Amino acid sequence: MTTSFDMFIETQVPENELIISRTDLNGVITYVNDTFASISGYEPEELIGKPHNIIRHPDMPKSAFKELWNRLKSKNEWQGYVKNLRKDSGYYWVFAKISPLIKDGEIVGYKSLREPVDREKKIEMQRVYDEIREKEDDIFRVTLYVESKKLDSLKSLEE
Ligand SMILES: Cc1cc2nc3c(=O)[nH]c(=O)nc-3n(C[C@H](O)[C@H](O)[C@H](O)COP(=O)(O)O)c2cc1C
Repeated sequence: MTTSFDMFIETQVPENELIISRTDLNGVITYVNDTFASISGYEPEELIGKPHNIIRHPDMPKSAFKELWNRLKSKNEWQGYVKNLRKDSGYYWVFAKISPLIKDGEIVGYKSLREPVDREKKIEMQRVYDEIREKEDDIFRVTLYVESKKLDSLKSLEE
C-alpha cells in the first residue's frame, strides 16, 4: 500500500465572482474569464486552445468525468464538486455547473460556471473521491492481472 501526503497549497475561491470557461465539442478551452485564469494560476492565453483536463487533479475519480460527458452528450447539465489542479501544483475546490451550448437543436460547445465550496464539504468530498478512486484502482489492477496471465500463456506457446 502506498501513502501519499498532500502538501500543496489550497487556493480559496472567492465568493461573488463568476468563474467561467467554455469549450468546443472536444473539451478544448475556447474562453476563460480573468477570475478562472487567476484561480488556476494560468494566463488566459495559456489556457485557450488547451484541453480542459489541463487542470484535472489526480484526486478526481475517472467516473466523475465519465458521468459528466454522458450527461453533456445527452444534452443535460452536470453539477458536481471538482478538485482542480493549479499551474503551481496547488489545488482549489469548486462546485461546477457544466452544460451544453445548444444552437438549432445541436450541441455547439459547452460552458461551465463555478461556485466556492465550504470547508466541511471539501473534507467530505475528498473522502468520497478517495474511496471511489480506491475502488476504480482495484478494478484496474484486476484487469492488468488478467492481461499479464494472458501474456504468460502466450509466451509459453512461443516456447
Ligand atoms: C465546459 C467544461 C468544463 C470543464 N471543467 C473541468 C474542470 O474544471 N476540471 C476538470 O478536471 N475537468 C473539467 N472538464 C472535463 C474535462 O474536459 C475532462 O474530461 C476531465 O478533466 C478528465 O480528463 P480526461 O477526460 O482526459 O480523463 C470540463 C469539461 C467541460 C466541457
